Amino acid sequence: MKGVVWNGKIDVTEDLEARGPGANEVSVRIAAAGVCHSDVSVIDGTIPFPTPLVMGHEGAGVVEEVGSGVTKVKPGDHVVLVTLGHCGQCDACESGHPTHCRDTFGKTSQPFTYKGEPAYMFANTSVFAEHTVVKESQAVVIDPAVPLEAASLIGCGVLTGAGAVWNRAKVGRGDTVAVFGVGGIGLNAVQAAWIAGAVRIVAVDANPAKEAIARDFGATDFVDARATDAVAAIKQILPDGVDHSFECVGHPTVLRQAVDILAWGGNCIIIGVPPPTAEASFRVAALTHIDRGILGSRYGSARPHVDVPIVIDLYRQGRFKLDELVTRTYPLEEVETVFADMADGKVARGVLIP
Ligand SMILES: NC(=O)c1ccc[n+]([C@@H]2O[C@H](COP(=O)([O-])OP(=O)(O)OC[C@H]3O[C@@H](n4cnc5c(N)ncnc54)[C@H](O)[C@@H]3O)[C@@H](O)[C@H]2O)c1
Ligand SMILES: [Zn+2]
Ligand SMILES: [Zn+2]
Repeated sequence: MKGVVWNGKIDVTEDLEARGPGANEVSVRIAAAGVCHSDVSVIDGTIPFPTPLVMGHEGAGVVEEVGSGVTKVKPGDHVVLVTLGHCGQCDACESGHPTHCRDTFGKTSQPFTYKGEPAYMFANTSVFAEHTVVKESQAVVIDPAVPLEAASLIGCGVLTGAGAVWNRAKVGRGDTVAVFGVGGIGLNAVQAAWIAGAVRIVAVDANPAKEAIARDFGATDFVDARATDAVAAIKQILPDGVDHSFECVGHPTVLRQAVDILAWGGNCIIIGVPPPTAEASFRVAALTHIDRGILGSRYGSARPHVDVPIVIDLYRQGRFKLDELVTRTYPLEEVETVFADMADGKVARGVLIP
């Protein structure tokens, strides 16, 4: 089959095979795969992974075959793929925190064969390929009427951005919000804050061309981080600062801005992923004296089997934008064009069609 392999360079290859589903696993034909900045981060070394690696982690498709013990998914089902691969049985899973499940990190498997050698999965999903094989818990069945291009984005960008707002920050009606970086993740944070009833949503981006789409997604204000000091500019709009800030870039300097703009009692949510050794600084008194906090958020602190259906419902009612996130679709052969278009700020999300 065809797929995109990272092996120190990008190889769009036909010399790739996926094994069949084992117990509690399902094989999925990938219909669409969004390209997230974390895919770029694999290539530039920000997110190190063993190679050869079958790329991609934000996808949707159609179930082809199920392994023994699979009961909730059947061939022909349309599914959103989620990256966690949580066990469903540990303390964390049982208490509704699958992102804390120890099964979800560091268990890189090799269900692929690339040029005759075992190849690794990226983020338990590997969707830049015609077929993949995932745990049953990673395939969330959706209504087949939902276009799979739109659905593919739920698998990372939507769950991460919207989940951080709903599950981690718990943004409420009348709250004020600043979102730093309005790419695929940040735009979902913006629209989730709008849905949650935030009264003021300031989008901050280093690319002024992002203003129009940020406002379409619910931003009430836009700050061009390249042209102006973002903290001073937000203070002009909201002199007391914001109740919730979201760092969706992955840069310690931006994180500092997101902390400095907090109102008394406000929380900064870290979503962006810098290199593993990156450190950031802040004034301790700026947190302790006025009850401000900094929280990490992995995968929107999502509960996939709860949150995916919520997003699908809202989308079908016209209350959650998915189609508008898909700026362009590309064949797998053009994966490097997607990366270039992302770097040039030309796409909200570029989507690969295997
Ligand atoms: N925590 C998680 O579970 C999780 C999941 C997925 C992605 N991520 C991370 O989230 C981050 C964003 O991913 P994405 O796919 O939205 O990326 P993207 O490339 O689509 O968007 C990034 C945006 O940030 C803007 N930007 C760059 N520098 C900036 C600056 N100094 N100030 C303000 N804006 C700036 C860019 O113009 C762009 O619009 C990445 O670091 C990615 O690895 C984290
Ligand atoms: Zn992602
Ligand atoms: Zn678990």
